[in-house]
Formats: sequence, C-alpha cells, structure tokens
Amino acid sequence: MNLNYIVPNEWSIIEEGFNASHVTASESIFSIGNGAMGQRANFEEKYSGKTFQGSYIAGIYYPDKTRVGWWKNGYPEYFAKVLNAPNWIGIDVKINGEDLDLKTSQVSYFKRELNMKEGWLQRSFIAKLQNGIEVKVNSLRFLSLRYNEIGAIKYTVTPLNAEVDIEFNPYIDAGIKNEDANYDELFWEVLSVNPEVRQAFIVSKTLKTNFHVATGMKIQIDKNTVPLDLAYFQNEEPKKITYQYKVSAKQNDAITIVKFGSYVQSMNHEIDKLISHSQYLFDEVSNIGYNQLLEYQKEDWAKIWETSDIVIEGDVKAQQAIRFNIFQLNQTYSGDDARLNIGPKGFTGEKYGGSTYWDTEAYCIPFYMSTKDKSVAKNLLKYRYNHLGKAIENAEKLGFKNGAALYPMVTMNGEECHNEWEITFEEIHRNGAMIYAIYNYLNYTNDFKYVADYGLEVMIGVARFWHQRANFSVEKNKYVILGVTGPNEYENNINNNFYTNYLAKWCIKYAVKNLKKVQKKYPEDYKRIVDKACLTDSEVVAWMQVAELMYFPYSQKHNVYLQQDGFLDKDYITVDKLPKEDRPINQKWSWDRILRSCYIKQADVLQGIYMFENKFTTDEIASHFNFYEPITVHESSLSPCVHSILAAKIDKMDKAYEMYLRTSRLDLDDYNNEVHEGLHITSMAGTWLTIVQGFGGMRTFKNKLSFSPQIPKEWISYSFKINYNETVLKVYKSHSETKFYNETGKAVTIEINGKSHELVTELSL
Ligand code: BGC
Repeated sequence: MNLNYIVPNEWSIIEEGFNASHVTASESIFSIGNGAMGQRANFEEKYSGKTFQGSYIAGIYYPDKTRVGWWKNGYPEYFAKVLNAPNWIGIDVKINGEDLDLKTSQVSYFKRELNMKEGWLQRSFIAKLQNGIEVKVNSLRFLSLRYNEIGAIKYTVTPLNAEVDIEFNPYIDAGIKNEDANYDELFWEVLSVNPEVRQAFIVSKTLKTNFHVATGMKIQIDKNTVPLDLAYFQNEEPKKITYQYKVSAKQNDAITIVKFGSYVQSMNHEIDKLISHSQYLFDEVSNIGYNQLLEYQKEDWAKIWETSDIVIEGDVKAQQAIRFNIFQLNQTYSGDDARLNIGPKGFTGEKYGGSTYWDTEAYCIPFYMSTKDKSVAKNLLKYRYNHLGKAIENAEKLGFKNGAALYPMVTMNGEECHNEWEITFEEIHRNGAMIYAIYNYLNYTNDFKYVADYGLEVMIGVARFWHQRANFSVEKNKYVILGVTGPNEYENNINNNFYTNYLAKWCIKYAVKNLKKVQKKYPEDYKRIVDKACLTDSEVVAWMQVAELMYFPYSQKHNVYLQQDGFLDKDYITVDKLPKEDRPINQKWSWDRILRSCYIKQADVLQGIYMFENKFTTDEIASHFNFYEPITVHESSLSPCVHSILAAKIDKMDKAYEMYLRTSRLDLDDYNNEVHEGLHITSMAGTWLTIVQGFGGMRTFKNKLSFSPQIPKEWISYSFKINYNETVLKVYKSHSETKFYNETGKAVTIEINGKSHELVTELSL
C-alpha cells in the first residue's frame, strides 16, 4: 500500500487537508465521467504545482505515429490514443490582483469529496494568499447523466478577512497536449473561436481522424445568490477564449460563478450544427438551472444504484471500495452506444491509450450484463461484430487467409494499434475472449438469436484463425500452438501455453456446436452466414481435427496443467521468499531476470480454470490453485480477482478476502504505485466479480442461475443486486442468514447450494 489518505466513508471518497504530493493521485481518484466524457479532478483555478491535466471525450482518438526501436513487419503504423480534449473547466481567479493558487497560498482547510451516491465532485478550502487575504472557496462540479454533452460547475469565493476585488477568468482552451504523445505533436487543429454573449465556443478538429468538437462555456455570476448583470472583458487568443469579470466583495460576501461546459461532437451531430446544438443545450440547461440539473443528477444516479449497489456491513473500507469500483465503471460506460467501449483507464488518464482490450470481454461484460439492461452487454458484443472485417484484415496482414480473424490486442476502431511483438503478434489468446463473451452472454440471457444475427460470423472467423495458427507436431502426434504469450506477460514466445491452447480448442468446438444449432433453429440465417463465409463441411472437419488433437502440457507429478512447455525447468521459489524491496518485480528487476523466473504476472492457467470451472473438479481446481497462487505476483490489476473467486470456490476464504482487498482498493490505496497515471477501470469489474461470483457464488452455466453464498469473517453481512432477465434480484448474506429477494415479482428459478427453489418474493435459508 503506497497511499493511505482517503477517509473511509460508505458513500463518498474524501480527502482532508492539502498535500501537494497527493495532487496527481487525487486527480485520478476523484475523476468524474458520464459515459460520453470524463475529466481528471483538476482544479478549476490556476495551480502552479505538479498536475496532470486531462479531459476526455468518448470515442475520440488520434493515431499517433508508432515509435519503436526495431521495426518488425506486421507492426501497425500508429497507436490510437485517447485524446486530452479542450479544457472547459478552467476558472482562473485573482484576489486583489494576485492569482489564487493553492501551491503558493497557505491552506488552513481543504476537503475534497466525490459523492458516489449522487454523482458530484466537491472541493472546499480556506487559503491565505501571499497578499494576506484569506478566502473560502467551494466548488461543486458534475457531468450530467441526463444531458451527457453538458457539465456544470458552481464555484463560490468568499473573502474572510477583508473587502476585496475578485477577478474571475473563466475560459475554454483548445491549446492542449497529450503527455504521452510519441513525437510531441499537437493532435488538435482549432477551426474557429466563437465568442457570444456570456457564452463562447471553440470548434476544433482532430488531425488525421477529423473528429470535430465544439467546446463551449456559458457563464452566470451572482452575489449572495442575487444574479449580477456584469459587463465583462473578452480576451481572445488563437486557441483560447477567456471572459474576465470583476466583482468587488465585502467580507463574507459569497460570489458565485456558475459555469456550464459542453462538448458537442461530430460522432453525434452534423459538423455544421455543432455550435447551434451547443447553443440549444445551453438555453435548455440555463432554463432548468444549475440546482435542478443537480437534482436530476441525483435521481439518475439513484436509478443506477437501484440495480447495482452492493452493501457491506461491518467494514467501511470494503464498502467504500466496492462502491468506488461500481461508480467508476458506470462513469466510464453507460452502454447505449455500440461504437464505444471501456478503456482500461477510462477517462482518468492517458496510459493504455483509452482503447479497448480483451479486458472488456474477459472481465467487464458480466458486470454490465448483471447490473443493466441486456442491451448493454449486447452493444459490447456488437462492437466486436462490427469490427470483424478489420479483424480479418488484421489476420491477413500477418499471413492468415480465408476469412481467419485476429482481433486486435488494443484498438479504437477495430485496427490493431499495439506494437510490441510479444504482445501484438503473440498474445493471441485475446481472440478466445471474444467468443467466451458470447458464451457468457448466452448463459445469462438465453438470447440465442444473437448468435444467428451476429455471433456465429465472429465464431467462424476465430475458429479459422485457430485452425491456421496451430500446427501438427509429428513428434507429439498432436496439434501445438507455438510462439505465444499467455495472459502472463512475464513469459514471451513460449510454446503450448495451456490457456491459449485450451481456448483454441474450445472456440473451435463451440463454433461447430453453434453452427449446428443455428442450422436447426434459424436455417435461413445459417444459409446466409455459410454463403457469406464460403464455409464448407470439409473445412469444419479440418477445424475439428485440430480441436480433437490439441496438445496440453501436463505434470503427472504435480497433477496440474503446466503453463507452457518446459515450465518445470524453472526454479520454483514462492513469492513469499522474495524480499520486499524486490517488489514489484517489473519495477525492480531486469526484464531477462523476470522472463527466466517462475513468477507469474497474472492469472494464466487459473484464468482458464476460472472461465471453464464446470469442466474441472473441485480437487483439480484446488491442485492448480495451490501450485500457481504461491508463484503469482499479481502485478496486473486483472489478477487478484480471479484468484479470489477460485479461492472462495475451494473454501479458502481468508485468501479470497486478502485478494478482494487487493483488487478493490488497488487505486484508493495505490497498491502498484501508479494511480497518478489514472485508475484501473477494467479491473474494477473484477472486483465486482469477486463479491458476486466469489463470495456470492453466482453462476449462470447453461442458463441456470445458481448461488452458494459465503461471507468473509471480517464482515457482518453483505448484499448485492443483479438484473436477471428483467427481474431485479437481491442476495443477502450474513453469518446466520442467507436471503434472496425478488424485487420485481416475476418468479425466477434459482439454485442455492445445489438445490432448486422458486423465488417469487423472498426466500430465507
Ligand atoms: C495486462 C493485460 C491487460 C492490460 C490492460 C496489462 O497489464 O497484462 O492483460 O489487457 O494490462 O488492462
């Protein structure tokens, strides 16, 4: 744990006292978003200390030219980056001519609160400037869920010890940069700066990708809640526009500036209507008013919590953590737009390019599927269906043919934009996650029509890839898959990674099973798909041969599948023997030392066992867990959740709880010393899985909803909600009781600890 300053609270993330060394970490932790845009919690007023500025608009990216030392054929030419977008939050403040700047002031009181229940960010402080003037400031900011192109700030300054002149300089600034730009280039071109009465817009477009965005601001000022009709001075620069308001304030006068901000962009509007739509929105929200807009925000967040809240009694830190995870997932992705996805850092930083990884399919889909309408998970699946053509092109670039599809490791628009050979070319297991997500969706929703409409085509492309990627080993008399990287990125270019081979086999068999099923249930769709894909019976027979004869490395001595060929040649030295100073090994050891060691970055064999748990006995799960957990360093945020769920399954509740804490407070306590770069959004879905699938034991194999709830000894009780086929169910577990509630009233059959029950309203065990 590297940070320990977040005040435990059930519904809020709170920071008390100003510490300049926490600013960049807090900018990540207190980030806000509404699915369409998001912002790091940068201060509105000038801050001359260390800060990482970030505002992001969903779906808007820039293809930054790839930078690598040794170019390898097959690398993509660019890396799509999520873009730092024009800033509309800025309000520079001067008091008697001096900048209000927390870095140069004496701060006697500082509190920041992210209210997760209601979806707003507040900051209050008392600061004495160098000129001796003491002011109290309160700012409350939110990004509206109801009007998702709009955000609002209410910023109040109260002089505490003198009559002063206050100058507010609200601005919009399109002269921004990405810190992670490969060649220090600018990614935006400003097209026009448009001042209007008390509102202004800057239209800019991204270079190369041509996304057009109108960034807007609208200003209102009042003194002690009475609106002021002030004249203002307008300062127009090539990429920035600032309005300067001067107000004189007596001691204890509260001068408030309300600033509405907006992004209206060309993915959703015609380019020539960007400004008119922004004007329309500002008229609308000004009529509604800041206070009412905030009320809407509270109502809309209340609705989200109705189907997604998890309540933990007896452990405030655990409670705060799980709500933080659920809150951030909802801030990142609202699910109504199949062009969008969930970047591992969401709208909280630049690293990972804000792009889509296998994280979505392997970790996030269950969360959105269980807490929202099923259309949300379907949109996520359709995102990949819509990229099938690009996945086929991507495979072609690497020499595959005949419609084989390789989904990218990292993408914004379906094209691969990752460029480290051991990941781009070798981490092909990601292809399996695409199919696993469909399987998961079907198990939960029983929406088989999805397969006939979309899913089967993806399954065919992926099966073709595995068929071509495997080769027959005469020596082994089996099919092998050579030169891969499994989920454990601390091993590269290995042969026969168990997880990859297992998924390859499973994907082929699953595709064939679904081909047969679609042929029977939807013969017309079957014909359409088979004709489009030019699929023949003999090709399917050839796929099946690969699946039937797939090779898996196994150790009789340890009774476990091995992560790869030759794994037992390594020194098996457990993680507890590693000196503390050596951790995390990816920051302390040379890469070659990591590669030669037995240490596993993240669940790999165990990832497969987690995903296909029904194919393994409890003893088999335990032997694999006992072999791999002691050598796993969990240096990927995606790892502890899988280990936690399996630990709960094999009755190691202490271990399950230890892993839960690690995943749930990863960012709040900054376990990996990197929270300043942004939050780990996708692993937050893993935290949710830890409670629902781990402690709650929820499974949905073959459309059978089952639970086997357990409770960590540290908690008094917990409860979670799921939305199952349009029915909201609540599961409650304490040390003495297990209860199930049906909140919508449509009877549901559930299995509890192996026994079937009809849940109409309430069940108590
Ligand atoms: C993990 C990958 C993951 C990526 C983005 C990496 O550290 O090893 O599995 O896809 O982070 O979350």
